[in-house]
Amino acid sequence: MPPSSSITEALRPAVTPLLAALPSTVPFVAPDALERRSGRPLALRLGANESSFGTSPKALAAMRDAIARAAWYGDPETFALRARLAARLRVRPSNLAVGAGVDDLLGLVVRCFVSPGDPVVMSRGGYPTFAYHVAGFGGVLHTVPYRDDRNDLDGLAEAARRHGARLCYLSNPDNPSGSWHSGDDVRAFLDRLPPGCLLLLDEAYLEFGPDGTAPSLAADDPRVVRTRTFSKLYGMAGARIGYAIADETMVATFDKVRHHFGVNAIAQAGALAALDDAEHVARTLSAVAEGRRDYGMLGAAIGMPTLPSGTNFVCFDAGGAARARALVALLLEHGVFIRMPGAPPLDRCVRITVGTAPERAELSSLLRRLHAEGALAALDNHSPRG
Ligand SMILES: Cc1ncc(COP(=O)(O)O)c(C=O)c1O
Repeated sequence: MPPSSSITEALRPAVTPLLAALPSTVPFVAPDALERRSGRPLALRLGANESSFGTSPKALAAMRDAIARAAWYGDPETFALRARLAARLRVRPSNLAVGAGVDDLLGLVVRCFVSPGDPVVMSRGGYPTFAYHVAGFGGVLHTVPYRDDRNDLDGLAEAARRHGARLCYLSNPDNPSGSWHSGDDVRAFLDRLPPGCLLLLDEAYLEFGPDGTAPSLAADDPRVVRTRTFSKLYGMAGARIGYAIADETMVATFDKVRHHFGVNAIAQAGALAALDDAEHVARTLSAVAEGRRDYGMLGAAIGMPTLPSGTNFVCFDAGGAARARALVALLLEHGVFIRMPGAPPLDRCVRITVGTAPERAELSSLLRRLHAEGALAALDNHSPRG
């Protein structure tokens, strides 16, 4: 084969016009990439809302066993997991679609409902991976600013009607704000969407929300797809597994185009076992609640009040977008990975995953020291190193 430099650009096969017009972008720069850039490991990894409280020991054991069968394809029908989830959720297995995490399922829903040029509605600065999929399928995104640091349900419904949206995305509880709306309000919101508009209700953080956050919706309501994950509460982000609850026709539609062997056998075995570890779930939920309270006290002590959270992370109000950006950079210089919301009004905040008690102690002593030294007051003048 001749070296590639001798092949002229004129011979390069063309990608689709949609892809040719798409800017190169990633929804998130991963912590691993940050480590490679800085050439040193992170001391605290508190930016991706992974579970600091780990994976259920039962799930770990099941995954170790499943590795012995890694030569085989996983079950493309995820039969055992869907049966187990169906019994727990009181739905039929045919109401469930399993994917390689919610991110995979978001792409699937967009693929099924959005043609190039179709209008889609979400909050401005909402979960970037959804926006990424909409761009990838040529949808036209219309965004609605957060109101009082929460998704503006009135504004979203109004925008969906005004633009004749095909699809409306709502994360509840929400990333990046951490806020939530009651299940009753989400139900009423669904009723206000225009006919023919699908609600994609992302419930990745549902278990961390207060009682009453889950709307009471029939699984065969064709107007909504709900997505949930094993990445957060169950501590299996690296295994890549999540599921959607939807009506049978919708699930059958997904079956026409989904990646049938995309959910690996090891993740399936782990998810099944994780569902049975009620003790680990209860421990994680109470540890996260305790961590959120700790962060509230830390925020008060350093002059960065926290926003209410129904998730496994907390937003600290840094007092402005430039200050928040500087804080993200300053903490990274200390080996601490956090993130910040991407748009006003929430971009005045930084978003910090609830860590274990020792991780929180380390973060707390760093932030209190920076506060005492005046480095937090001087964030406006901070210029990132490197
Ligand atoms: C709102 C929201 N949806 C989906 C995901 C991704 O979930 P998964 O790991 O199941 O793809 C995240 C992860 O941060 C999230 O915040």
